[in-house]
Amino acid sequence: MKKPKVSVLGIGYVGLCTAVGFASKGYDVVASTHDAEKAAKINKGVPPFHEPNLKKLLEETIQNGNLTCLINQTEKAVLETDLTFNAVGTPSKPDGSIDLQFIETSTRDIGQALNQKSKYHVVVIKSTVVPGTTQDLVKPILEKESKKKCGSGFGLCMNPEFLRQGSAFEDTMHTDRVVIGEYDRQSGDALETLYKDFYGENMPPTIRTTLSTAELIKYASNSMLATKISFINTMANLCEKISGADVKIVATAMGLDKRIGPLFLNAGIGYGGSCFPKDVKALIAHSKNLGYRLELLEAVESVNKAQPLKAVEFCKELLGNLKGKRVAILGLAFKADTDDMREARAIPIVNQLLEEGANVTAYDPVAVPIAKTIFKNKIRYAASATACLKNADCCILVTEWDELKKLKPEDFTRSMKQPVLIDGRRIYDPEEFSRKMKFTAIGLGH
Ligand SMILES: NC(=O)c1ccc[n+]([C@@H]2O[C@H](COP(=O)([O-])OP(=O)(O)OC[C@H]3O[C@@H](n4cnc5c(N)ncnc54)[C@H](O)[C@@H]3O)[C@@H](O)[C@H]2O)c1
Repeated sequence: MKKPKVSVLGIGYVGLCTAVGFASKGYDVVASTHDAEKAAKINKGVPPFHEPNLKKLLEETIQNGNLTCLINQTEKAVLETDLTFNAVGTPSKPDGSIDLQFIETSTRDIGQALNQKSKYHVVVIKSTVVPGTTQDLVKPILEKESKKKCGSGFGLCMNPEFLRQGSAFEDTMHTDRVVIGEYDRQSGDALETLYKDFYGENMPPTIRTTLSTAELIKYASNSMLATKISFINTMANLCEKISGADVKIVATAMGLDKRIGPLFLNAGIGYGGSCFPKDVKALIAHSKNLGYRLELLEAVESVNKAQPLKAVEFCKELLGNLKGKRVAILGLAFKADTDDMREARAIPIVNQLLEEGANVTAYDPVAVPIAKTIFKNKIRYAASATACLKNADCCILVTEWDELKKLKPEDFTRSMKQPVLIDGRRIYDPEEFSRKMKFTAIGLGH
């Protein structure tokens, strides 16, 4: 069977991993973005962000000509291919509701290209969009611009993405499930056939459903994961009031229950990143518009908002007034293995420390260039964890990088002015650390 040609719009984490994934399996892939700088990097084989295991295959697929990245040439990308994944960003508006402007402009471009095309083409929304978007916004724009009927002139699917930053490329190549929301059977069949060829023997369970169910599956999944995190953080906050209690052991025991499972039960300073915060907020706002208040998710969000500031409270409990105190921040990225700082917990923590008059020095293995665009010269940046700890009065562990997990109590006591450590991610052994230094952690009763 001749492989269909694939185009990808929006070349962020989702778009680029999709593009490189298909190109690495021999498909001809044309990407298009309006970001000339990003396109130039990609065409040189350089990923525009830090993502493990992506670089080598990006380089290979560019070199062998399977992947090309165009600048603002959606029309060419659509005309040259059989199926288009739309993976543009869907950020939050200031009120928390979803901002669909990039979906609208990119859909208009696709529609205009479809107007020039006689062959049936499948449009796939891969971005996370609130239920109803594909049917009520994307379809009418495509029909208006193409002057064709959806379902006959072109096909339309909604195919949510479940990759995790930090293992985004691996997740693209080995997903747990494929969800296909379809307007018309022909496009659903085309997309399922494409994935069957892509995954071969490892084709994961596939759910074929309506557009809006597919859209909701993505939000329900992220909301559930965010709920698990806020739930265990609530238990962590309770543990702190109970003598001898430790949330980490509570979570381990809970996780052994098959109905609960061990993942996403790590207590700490809360979730960040480009997805959970915005998706939870968008679903709350969308549901409110539909006349149903998502009280559970409102609570999830408010627990998460308060959680990072607990690290600063601990800091104050241990040091007193923070004015002029030197605080070392270990880790800035929203999670390990990424340089993404969108909604990173380091942001409210650092801002609050600065507000309290502390002097902040931070270290992150990869996120410092992005952190500099956020904190500018309000904080200092260290070249290593040990340099960051030098002469510090207190350290807050913010991101669970492997290299930070390896630090021993001596690494802190050797160079800090006062050996005081707040473990915001529960990566250190409280027994070992509290024997050698002043140590506290989220969810540790005293
Ligand atoms: N990052 C994740 O972990 C993840 C996981 C699953 C789903 N998602 C969802 O996938 C979508 C994309 O996420 P991301 O993290 O890859 O976003 P991103 O912000 O990294 O990238 C989005 C890209 O879209 C580009 N873009 C915007 N308008 C465009 C247009 N008209 N034409 C071409 N390109 C355009 C932007 O320049 C940007 O490069 C979002 O809806 C997100 O919620 C993200």
